[in-house]
Amino acid sequence: MIKKDELYYPTEEFKKNAWVNDPKIYEEAGSDPVKFWEKLAKELFWFKPWKNGFLHKPPYFQWFAGGKINITSNIFERDWETRKDRTALIWEPEPVNEKPRIFTYTELLKEVCKCANYLKKMGVKKGDRVGIYLPMIPEAAVAMLACARIGAAHSVVFSAFSPDALRVRMQDTGAKVLITADGYYRGGKFIDLLKNAKDGIKETKIKKLAVVQRSGKTPWQEEKDFCKAAEMDSEDLQFILYTSGSTGKPKGCMHVCGGYTVQANWTGKWIFDFHKDDIFWCTSDLGWVTGHTYTIYSPLLNGITTLMFEGAPNFPAPDRWAQIIEKRGVTVFYTAPTAIRMFKSYGEDILKKYQFNKLRLLGSVGEPIDESAWLWYYNNVGKEKCPIVDTWWQTETGGILITSLPGMGPFKPAFTGLPFPGIKVEIKDGNLVILPPFAPGLLRGIYKNPKKYSETYWSQYGKKVYFTSDGAIIDKNGLIRIIGRVDDVIKVAGHRISTGEMEAAINGHQEISECAVIGILDEIKGEAPAVFAVYNGTRPAEEIKKEIISQIQKVIGPIALPKEVYLAADLPKTRSGKIMRRILKKLWAKEELGDLSTLANPESVDKIKKILYG
Ligand code: WTA
Repeated sequence: MIKKDELYYPTEEFKKNAWVNDPKIYEEAGSDPVKFWEKLAKELFWFKPWKNGFLHKPPYFQWFAGGKINITSNIFERDWETRKDRTALIWEPEPVNEKPRIFTYTELLKEVCKCANYLKKMGVKKGDRVGIYLPMIPEAAVAMLACARIGAAHSVVFSAFSPDALRVRMQDTGAKVLITADGYYRGGKFIDLLKNAKDGIKETKIKKLAVVQRSGKTPWQEEKDFCKAAEMDSEDLQFILYTSGSTGKPKGCMHVCGGYTVQANWTGKWIFDFHKDDIFWCTSDLGWVTGHTYTIYSPLLNGITTLMFEGAPNFPAPDRWAQIIEKRGVTVFYTAPTAIRMFKSYGEDILKKYQFNKLRLLGSVGEPIDESAWLWYYNNVGKEKCPIVDTWWQTETGGILITSLPGMGPFKPAFTGLPFPGIKVEIKDGNLVILPPFAPGLLRGIYKNPKKYSETYWSQYGKKVYFTSDGAIIDKNGLIRIIGRVDDVIKVAGHRISTGEMEAAINGHQEISECAVIGILDEIKGEAPAVFAVYNGTRPAEEIKKEIISQIQKVIGPIALPKEVYLAADLPKTRSGKIMRRILKKLWAKEELGDLSTLANPESVDKIKKILYG
């Protein structure tokens, strides 16, 4: 049994069979990271080799410049003889009685080609952007891969985002085609996605909707099943994925073909120790970066089986996720601390009947994992034999950058571990930063917004230092612990939500003059939003609160729903008019407030105390 603050190492057997088990790799990579990444990149398939490993014109940089590549050629054409009959994708539907759908690499390639040919027929060309607003069905993977096949950049929008949220993203991309579906099952209900899609494309450039039926019927059924892969420049756009930052508008993170492919391939291989018989289940929806890189690209690049599950992990029973692991023989399981805390809340009894004999490695991502969740995961899911890789990364980094490697460790509860070989990080004034040459998969820009790119990531410590917006500490072994965001982003159930974006949504309510959103502690979700809105009218408070909630639902979607909504007459502000969210946070947590003399309206604090504590 492992205890708090103890270091933990893989079993001898795990170590022996792991791809990486010699710490010398850190020295080798660290002494010349560019050379190291070039060596890894060479194992991929390139139509044409690159001229320059790394070029740096701060704050811009390039990897493998001059090279030509296609990520799908590295999935479907590399090592083809060994992988063509292997299972690429297992799709588990939410309804228990429905049959799973299983695709070999050959079958998946055929679907991808059909979809690619269909996109071409609709006029999609290399360099175009294509919107994807699909639930967790196999066609979502097919659509992403089809875009990559023809060199169009996909921009996936999480299916639980609202029509308004879809619209803002599609307007920014300028996409002319959106691939969507009639609906999907979640928590036992059939969700009408098409209605949202139709609503969301109003006032965008989207002229064509490609609608997949949840039953598996696709608009590309009749197309030819071969399509040649487009030869892409290393620095051509692979995809755009929107994420939340400090301000109201989501940012389109740009990822490129060469570097992203290299990083997706190698981080998966070494961190999840992918071997040919592995069945990998990454629980992330494809709408998030974790779903892009580790539900789809990384396992498929490595020729293993990836599992996609349509529904809620606790539906129709709390142990649905455990049933899937057991039934499918999942060998590597990757999920978020929120899910782990939820499983834990159901008690250990429901897990007694599961042996999880095939499981050999566990992963965690998306938010800090606390010691007790870590230990529970280790003891009850890993049965005290599976290493846990606590992986730190961001939408911006494209792939994992910090985690101890499973064949070496050390692992320490609540610590993410060591930077991946070849990655140079530092902690400056408590802030985690990344130093050149960064990572091949790091974002190359914010779509149509170079100013935001420079300001957000390259201004705090100069143009050559990538600012992560995460606070971190380091222990005497060099292991890194992530404390959390230092900006206005909160991680709610692992989902990245901007409090600024929520505030902008609430301010859209005619009768709300001002508001502040803060993250508050939540036992399962880690953090949850709490809203403080200024309302001085005469209508019933309950009505206003409901409208605030529906306003958030409309502009963002159900993932950002607040845990609490408070109406106040006034919010604490500085003399220059800035709302002091820090004070609200302390009030909520009942912490010492400290000096309030800088406030323009100190009396507001007492009023809020009354609202909170009665
Ligand atoms: C947080 C998700 C602690 C962090 C891949 C980061 C983590 C943000 C971890 C990015 C981890 C991610 N431990 N915190 N292992 N992984 N984070 O863009 O605050 O959705 O900045 O990417 O999640 O969230 P995003």
